[in-house]
Order: sequence, then C-alpha cells, then structure tokens
Amino acid sequence: MQSYKKLLSDNKAWAEKMLREDPEYFDRLAHLQTPEFLWIGCSDSRVPANQITGTQPGEIFVHRNVANLVIHTDVNLLSVLEFAVVHLKVKHIIVCGHYGCGGIKAAMTNHDYKQVLNMWLRNIKDVYQLYQEELDAIEDLEKRADRLTELNVKEQVLHLAKTSIIQRAWKNEKRPNLHGWVYGLKDGIIHPVFEMQAGSPIDSIYSFDDL
Ligand code: CO
Repeated sequence: MQSYKKLLSDNKAWAEKMLREDPEYFDRLAHLQTPEFLWIGCSDSRVPANQITGTQPGEIFVHRNVANLVIHTDVNLLSVLEFAVVHLKVKHIIVCGHYGCGGIKAAMTNHDYKQVLNMWLRNIKDVYQLYQEELDAIEDLEKRADRLTELNVKEQVLHLAKTSIIQRAWKNEKRPNLHGWVYGLKDGIIHPVFEMQAGSPIDSIYSFDDL
C-alpha cells in the first residue's frame, strides 16, 4: 500500500473506533468548538500539541510554524490569534518551543539557506543578538541552542503582548494569560520557562493607551 493510502485507511479505523466508544462523539464536536487554549508551536512532526498534552480534538486551537515564531506582520498568525482571542475567547496562549529544534540550530549557523528561509530565520538571529553575551558564554553548542530555544520562546511571548489584540483583551476581559514552554524531545517533558499574566506591564513604546 502507498504510504498516503495508509493514512486514509487508518483514518477510517480511527473514526470507527471513536464511534464505537462514543456514538455521539462527532455530532458533539461538529456543533461545538470551545477550546480554552491557543497553542503556537513548532511545525516539527515530533511535537504534536494534542498528543504531548494528552488532550482531545476540540480542546486546543493550534497554529504551528518553523521555530514557533510570533511575527507582527504575519497575517496567518495574527488571524489565528485574533480568532482565538476575540471569538473563541481562549484563557491561555502557549508558545511551545522544543529542544533540538532544527530552526533554532539553523539560525545559529552562518549558512545561506536562500532568501525565504533566511528571512524567517532572521527573526531567531535577532533573538540571539539580544542575548549575545549570555549565549556566546555557553561553550557547549547543544546547551547554547537549548538556551536560545528558551529565550526565543520568551521573546515570542513578549511579541504577543505587544499586539493590540492581546492588550485589548487584557484591558476588557483580564485574559488570556501567556505561557512560554519548551518541550524535551528526549524525555517528553514540557518545561515552563516564562509567563505573563493578563495585565502584566509592557514596554511603554509598545503599549496602546487608547484601546
Ligand atoms: Co522546531
């Protein structure tokens, strides 16, 4: 059997199993989506949001890109963010990076990945530069990449807080809380590394005063 056909036959088996266990399962999900969480994660196939958090379809609204970046001109991400915050009214947003991230490692090299990837990875290089002194002092390259992964997650959470979408929801509804997590590919454990409660202070130049 061709590999993609196995996906389709496994899907049928899965749907039948779900119906056997709960005949109302799909009816219920088709009519209601009320996730409490927005997950912004890496596209890496080893970091599936639902599986590593033990959650079911319907529980997490998901956006993924290379190295879980929050870029203020990314219409795709901003659409997901606005829909999740304004319409789904999520209570928590999680930016989840992972140790061993190929995007982070690539950004640490001086290799030319050609324009589109260079442009994307540039955002990670900018994080590196913010913390260059701390990072350059870590001699072990794997440990340095791990630390950059944590700092990258922190910076992406800060980027979320700079949007009017988040600031308006904080002002009017005291939500969502923002979380920066890093997942360990080697042990399957998620490490919280940064957090911003709704209403946390924001650098003044990024703060909107007429929301
Ligand atoms: Co990755």
